[in-house]
Amino acid sequence: MFKDARLLVKPMSELWVEKHRPQTVTQIRGQLGVVDRLRTYSEKRTFPHLLFAGPPGTGKTTAAMALTKDVFGADYRSNLLEMNASDERKLESIRSKVKQFARTAAFGGAKFKVIFLDEADALTSDAQGALRRIMEQYAETCRFILSCNYSSKIIEPIQSRCAVFRFRPLTFAQVREQIANVASQEEVEIDEDAIDALANIANGDLRKALTALQVSAALEKKISRDLVYETSATAPPEALHQYLLACKQDGFHPARRRLQELLDKFGLAGTDFINQLHKELYSADFLSESAKLSLTELMAEVDYRLVEGGGEQIQLDALTAKIVSFVE
Ligand SMILES: Nc1ncnc2c1ncn2[C@@H]1O[C@H](COP(=O)(O)OP(=O)(O)O)[C@@H](O)[C@H]1O
Ligand SMILES: [Mg+2]
Repeated sequence: MFKDARLLVKPMSELWVEKHRPQTVTQIRGQLGVVDRLRTYSEKRTFPHLLFAGPPGTGKTTAAMALTKDVFGADYRSNLLEMNASDERKLESIRSKVKQFARTAAFGGAKFKVIFLDEADALTSDAQGALRRIMEQYAETCRFILSCNYSSKIIEPIQSRCAVFRFRPLTFAQVREQIANVASQEEVEIDEDAIDALANIANGDLRKALTALQVSAALEKKISRDLVYETSATAPPEALHQYLLACKQDGFHPARRRLQELLDKFGLAGTDFINQLHKELYSADFLSESAKLSLTELMAEVDYRLVEGGGEQIQLDALTAKIVSFVE
């Protein structure tokens, strides 16, 4: 019995973000300028040191893998050393890994090996200075691909040694397209407005979109908009609008109750709530332009206080109280 039951369970171990990761540079979605330049490297089978900068889930790691694969073929892994700067507390460990790796010749007659250093902006500027010397020392045999969220956190001498690539958040339409594509390959049934919801919560981050899709697909056979919002710690736009409307029409206590229901139902922390509210604020057409401007400033203030450790309940109550006084 047990054995049979196990055969019926669909293996959930494989992550769709990995399974559907583009394998060559040309399969990368969006990032048109980036992809164009990388394709030239693929064709010439060589490239300089590279710096990939941009927000999470936009294809930086994917591009590093795909490019290496394009240049070295199926055996690319033997010519690739992957490291995460935030795991390597001491630069010494990066140095010794690079040294070890660079000692042997590149596999399959390739001219160089590739070192991919993720989250390079986690290194202090002193450590980056030492990294720069390592890059110079091994430049003959190794190319570095550095990835970071902000290129401004990378010291100038490293930036000037790299070709810099800026990755943008994917557009709503690009995220939507990839969700629909993966959903159809995985044979999941999904409503059109659920695809919209996934693209909405993703905010240009494809990792987030595909993870939320897989989580929803594991729970229900047919994915609806409600399911997406309930499983992704995101309140749907209309719920946030209803809170603002309650502030305007019903006053403090009803609005405060609504906020509490929202936090409970969607499992939001105070800062999640403020950020989601901010995103929906400008589309609330029942608020005047000047009210929106004042509320923006107010939300920035409360967000800051929360991040700095202000008590959540009192900060959110203060927010509601202020909003009520602004909009009534
Ligand atoms: N531009 C893109 N095109 C196609 N898939 C993408 C793209 N960006 C991200 N993804 C998907 O999201 C996952 C995470 O992307 P990744 O490249 O690791 O992001 P990061 O920019 O944080 O390094 C990938 O495995 C892939 O499935
Ligand atoms: Mg990455």
